[in-house]
This record gives sequence, C-alpha cells and structure tokens, in this order.
Amino acid sequence: MDGRVRQAVDAAFAAFKTLSDGHNADYIPALANVSPDLFGIAVVTADGTIYDAGDVDTEVSIQSISKVFTMAQVIQEQGLESVEQRIGVDATGARFNSIIAVEAVRTVAGAGAPEMNSLVNPGAIATTSMVLGASADEAWERIVGFHRAAAGRELHVMDDVYRSESDTNQRNQAIGALMLAYGYIKSNWQQAVDLYTRQCSIGVTARDLAVMAATLAFAGRNPVTGRQVIEAHKVPGVLAVMATAGLYDDSGKWLYHTGLPAKSGVGGGIIAVSPGKFGIAAVSPPLDSAGNSVRAQRAITAISNTLGGNPFGSTTPQAETV
Ligand code: DON
Repeated sequence: MDGRVRQAVDAAFAAFKTLSDGHNADYIPALANVSPDLFGIAVVTADGTIYDAGDVDTEVSIQSISKVFTMAQVIQEQGLESVEQRIGVDATGARFNSIIAVEAVRTVAGAGAPEMNSLVNPGAIATTSMVLGASADEAWERIVGFHRAAAGRELHVMDDVYRSESDTNQRNQAIGALMLAYGYIKSNWQQAVDLYTRQCSIGVTARDLAVMAATLAFAGRNPVTGRQVIEAHKVPGVLAVMATAGLYDDSGKWLYHTGLPAKSGVGGGIIAVSPGKFGIAAVSPPLDSAGNSVRAQRAITAISNTLGGNPFGSTTPQAETV
C-alpha cells in the first residue's frame, strides 16, 4: 500500500493546489487573516506511517473538528448513552449554529433523544459542559489532554484566535444561555461557552489532524504513539455522529461520494476516517457556501477513492470487474 498512498497524496496535492474557489471564514476576524494559499494533506496508516504533502507544519485553529474529540472524551468517561440521552445523536437539518434548532428540540426535551447532536454548536457547547472537573481549569485539562493524546503532541491554544472569537461570539453566548434555560446545560453556561471557544482555538497542523483521524480509524489507538485514547467499543458511536452531521448540510452529499465519517472546521481543516485502513486530513482555509474547505474535500475524496477507502464498497467501476 505504501507506494500507492504516496502516489495518491502527491497526485491530489498537484491536482488541487491551484484550485482557487471558496473564501476564508471571516465571521471570526482572525480566520480572515490566514493565507488562503495554505494547503496540506496527510494520511496515516496502520503502522503509524505518515504520508504528507504541502504545508503540513503550519498550525490553523481546529475549530469544529474539536467537537468530535470533546464528544469522544465525554463518551470515553461517561459512556455512549450519556451523550445520546442528554444531547442526542440525530441530524438537526439546520445550520451548525442554528438557534431555531434549539427551539425546535425543546418541545421534545426530556421525552427521549432529541434531534440534536454534539457536532452542531448548541449540542457541542452542551457536550463541553458535560466534561467533568471541579473547576474550569480541570475541565480544560481533560479537554486539551484528550486532544493531545489523539494527536500525540503537545497542542496549545492559538491566543489570537481565542481572543478574536471571544470578542465576537455573542451568538454562541446566546445559544449557551438558551441551552441552560432548556436544561441541556446544568450550570454555568458562560464557562461552557468559554471552554468551547478555547477548544475551537487549539492549533493543529494537517499532520496532527491526520493522526487524530487515525486514532479513530484504528479502534481508538493512536497508531503513532501506541496509546489507547478511547476504548475500541466506543469508537463506532463517535464515527456514526460524524457520518450523520460532520459536514453541516452537505453531510449526506459527502457520505454519498466518500462513505467516510468526517468533520470539517471553519479554519479550513477536514478529518476523515476509513476504519481499519487510514486516517486522513487536509487543511486549506477557503470554504464553499456550505462552510467546508474546497480543496480539503476534493483532496480527501480523490485520495480515499483511489485507495478504496469507502467502507460501503468500491467507488471505481474497474475495480468491480477485475
Ligand atoms: O463556534 C463557532 O462558530 C466556531 N468556533 C466553530 C465553527 C465551525 O467550525 C463549524 N462547525 N460545525
């Protein structure tokens, strides 16, 4: 597989590096200043080998990709049912930061799993509030600790992004207050919003993201460090929510073309998981109208389909006839 991965990564980088569609997110001012030319791809296979191309050492903010790992942290510590019961594991059918979605689910809150999930902002802020800890600092250490274990590296908050988002996140504050009012957050919604904003500001490279994806691809064990980060039987639940809601409103379209559980962030990163085969990530800040990185989507789709990464079966007609 080595040569094929190398070739697929190089080919995708060459094919998409000149693609100039899309625009950086600018509702968080610091994100508008990141170079739109930044483009990196990394694939991590079972033995922990990293195949990369382009700019894989520059950090961008992880943004919503952190939602996967905070959800995984809560599932690891409190069980699969904790998130299912409190937040839900269904698509909202609304935008990631929808306030209407909060209003819609409140009518069914307490009556079973609501139509909400940990990968949209209301569910993510509530999921962050579930992280255990006697103080904000203790909860933060758990959150960042889980991200570090999945990446196998000392990750840190990008202060400029954290400050920029903290100054402009009134919408998330409103969502946090509503989630308290409707019982999803049990106390201290301001702390939950602040921790959520911090987790979104963690700096990661394409290589970090690929290792994090690979940790999920190989049953919760980081293939580079060998550390079991989340118990194997809890990983399919994490992947299921990614498959359902990882790419906003385009999650269905993405799954149709790749079959891969994935998650995007407005910093330009996307991670995707081919269970048992590889973890993959790409970083490129310009986003399409749905909010997903243009180059990252194209690169991951091309590489995965070349390598037969779709868990539902082959997507190349030739492969079916040989
Ligand atoms: O809360 C926000 O708007 C950003 N920190 C993250 C947004 C993002 O990446 C979208 N995700 N679903």
